[in-house]
Amino acid sequence: MRISVVSNYDEMSNLAAEYIVNQINIKRESVLGLATGSTPLGMYKKLIEYYKAGKVDFSKVTTFNLDEYIGLDKENEQSYIYFMKNNLFNHINIKEENVFIPDGTAKDAKAECERYNKFLEKLGPIDIQILGIGVNGHIGFNEPSKDLTLRTHVTDLTEDTRKANSRFFDDISKVPQRAITMGIGDIMRAEKIILLASGKSKAPIIKHMVESGVSTFIPASILKLHKNVEIIADSDAASLIE
Ligand code: F6R
Repeated sequence: MRISVVSNYDEMSNLAAEYIVNQINIKRESVLGLATGSTPLGMYKKLIEYYKAGKVDFSKVTTFNLDEYIGLDKENEQSYIYFMKNNLFNHINIKEENVFIPDGTAKDAKAECERYNKFLEKLGPIDIQILGIGVNGHIGFNEPSKDLTLRTHVTDLTEDTRKANSRFFDDISKVPQRAITMGIGDIMRAEKIILLASGKSKAPIIKHMVESGVSTFIPASILKLHKNVEIIADSDAASLIE
C-alpha cells in the first residue's frame, strides 16, 4: 500500500484526476469505479475541466458506482444517481448506456444486486477504483462487521454512517436506513485502487487503517491485501500517522 501525502484538498483532487485521465488516455475503453460523497467532488470538477480542454474523451469509458441509497427517487438530490449526473456525467461525453449505478428504487433490491453483479462480471474488471473512506472505516457501504460480503448486496447503514451523512439531509430521520453497495470482493478485483482522504475528521481512521492489521471491523484495512493500492491523503487526513 502506497501513501501519497499532499498538502491540501486541491492537490489530492488534481492528483486523482491525473491518474484517471492518464488511464483513459492509455486505454480509451477503461472501466472506472466511482464514489460519491464530499471527497471526490474536487476530482470530478478537475475531470470536467480536462474534458472541456479536450484532454480526455469519455466516449468509450464505462463507470460503475459503488453504491446507492435504497428508497430515494432518482430525482432526489441526495440520491447518488442525481449526484453523479449533476457533478460529472451531465458535463462530459460519457454514454448513458455505459454508466452503471445500483438502482435504489428497484422493487426487488436483491434482484437488482444480482443484475449489478452480472454487469460487473461482464464488463469488469475495473481498471481504477476510486474510494472515499467513512469515519468508521467503511468503503463503499461495506460497514464494520464480523463478516464482510464479497459481491454487491443490500446493507443496513450504521448509525455512524447515517449521522455522518445527515449533513446532506434536513435531519437524520431522512437518511435512508439501507443501501445497495458493491462488495469487498468487487472492490478488490480492481486493477488499481485509489483511496482519497481529506480533512481532520478522517485523520483518526486513516491512522488506524494504516497502522492496524487487517480487520473486518475496519473494512478499509482489507485493502492492505491488494497489490496496487494508493492512498492519497491531504496533510490534515494524514496528520496522525506516525
Ligand atoms: C460513497 C461511498 C462512501 C464514501 C464515504 C466518505 O459512494 O462509497 O464510502 O466514500 O462515506 O464520504 P465523504 O467523502 O462524504 O466523507
